[in-house]
Amino acid sequence: MSKHWVNPLKDPQDKRLPRIAGPSGMVIFGVTGDLARRKLLPAIYDLANRGLLPAGFALVGFGRRDWSKADFEDYVHEAVRAGARTEYRANVWERLAEGMHFVSGNFDDDAAFDALAQQLADLDASRGTAGNWAFYLSVPPNFFDDVVHQLDRSEMARGSDGSWRRVIIEKPFGHDQATARDLNRVVNSVFPEDSVFRIDHYLGKETVQNIMALRFANQLFDPLWNANFVDHVQITMAEDIGLGGRAGYYDGIGAARDVIQNHLLQLLALVAMEEPIIYNPRELRAEKIKVLRATAPVYPLSKSTARGQYTAGWQGSERVVGLRDEDGFDPESNTETFAACTLQINSRRWAGVPFYLRTGKRLGRRVTEIAVVFKQAPHLTFDEQMTSAQGPNALVIRVQPDEGVLMRFGSKVPGSTMEVRDVNMDFAYSEAFTEESPEAYERLILDALLDENSLFPTNEEVELSWAILDPILEYWENRGKPEDYPAGTWGPESADRMMARDGRTWRRP
Ligand code: BG6
Repeated sequence: MSKHWVNPLKDPQDKRLPRIAGPSGMVIFGVTGDLARRKLLPAIYDLANRGLLPAGFALVGFGRRDWSKADFEDYVHEAVRAGARTEYRANVWERLAEGMHFVSGNFDDDAAFDALAQQLADLDASRGTAGNWAFYLSVPPNFFDDVVHQLDRSEMARGSDGSWRRVIIEKPFGHDQATARDLNRVVNSVFPEDSVFRIDHYLGKETVQNIMALRFANQLFDPLWNANFVDHVQITMAEDIGLGGRAGYYDGIGAARDVIQNHLLQLLALVAMEEPIIYNPRELRAEKIKVLRATAPVYPLSKSTARGQYTAGWQGSERVVGLRDEDGFDPESNTETFAACTLQINSRRWAGVPFYLRTGKRLGRRVTEIAVVFKQAPHLTFDEQMTSAQGPNALVIRVQPDEGVLMRFGSKVPGSTMEVRDVNMDFAYSEAFTEESPEAYERLILDALLDENSLFPTNEEVELSWAILDPILEYWENRGKPEDYPAGTWGPESADRMMARDGRTWRRP
């Protein structure tokens, strides 16, 4: 194509320039929770430190505590000192702290929400936030209804004179497709879909966005990216941590709902979708929706899925307890801490290529990766002995840690004979770039303030993801306890059997 060709869909703005949020503020519900303390508050400071928030940015906490402005500042200060990625600068902190306020109340308390509305109006006047507010619901979904209806009643859900109001929500987005629909209905009854920002923090990770760069900015990979060349795809999200302290959220939820429904299916969508005609939110989402709609479990589920629960074991040199002995878990809990499934994508590009997804707690090590494993060459010049040490070619996108991309292929072993063995060609972010990657939440909070919604799943994506998972969850529902696996291993034996039946094995990352 001629380099003078101009794509009429492209917006002429230079996308490499840093994007700075315009006048605005954020209200956090659930600000004393774990997520706010560990991720959201440090990310807000990091954004301010990078000069990406407006000078008059305001941060309002809403919660039950009877806190003054000074108490709230102390709390945020502690969270920032403990969790910020960038260096601490007193002047940045002081400017941010000036715009901090706390409103005390319950979610069913009309007077508290009226006080919040008054606080926002005061800040609009004193800080120049211009009526632009994002409401971050860092609360369990059973409170969404109360909060969005209070925002509606107190007239905070709609801006006036061209100002905007947005809502940012955190998973779990329902328990299955039906409850996700109900939840979406509640949120969309007050906030139109283009004002709703659903967080899937995996989409905020640099390496996840790089999947699109890798596929669509290069010529090298796309010709191979289909059923003619790809044997299968493995998506692994392994964690070494256990669930101590998280019983309230996790018991009854389990690994599939916690991680496969959102993070892993979003990774699958990015790996498998067709190329959007242009990189913008609408086109990107349209492609993700298409591929999710074409995705379904492989049957029979007795053979194509596996689930497990960790028992006591060794995590490195540490002796750790099993799930049933973790604080707060029902000793009879059937909650799975490991889940694996086999999916198929019914499209010309992917027909016959299994996508194996697995995730688990207390596994051998923390690693998230996507391995695209290629077929054997249809004909080999070398005899079998020469290539006996060679496995299939693979392209591995390492989401974390050691972020990068690895290509695995056969190479001649130096010497007088022809012997081929696997080698790795490795791209590491830390070596190729001097810039440090921002935290996922920095990117996502900034994007929400900028009204840039590419990295936020829509209601339709969420419901389609549940539609893929629901049959598997139903199948597991009546099958009692998941299979045991000792902490520090790679999951239950049924996960290996699931692969062995297809003549394949999991990668040991
Ligand atoms: C969350 C899950 O969405 O992702 C947690 O609820 C999990 O169970 C976490 O530990 C992992 O995130 P990350 O960014 O550390 O891979």
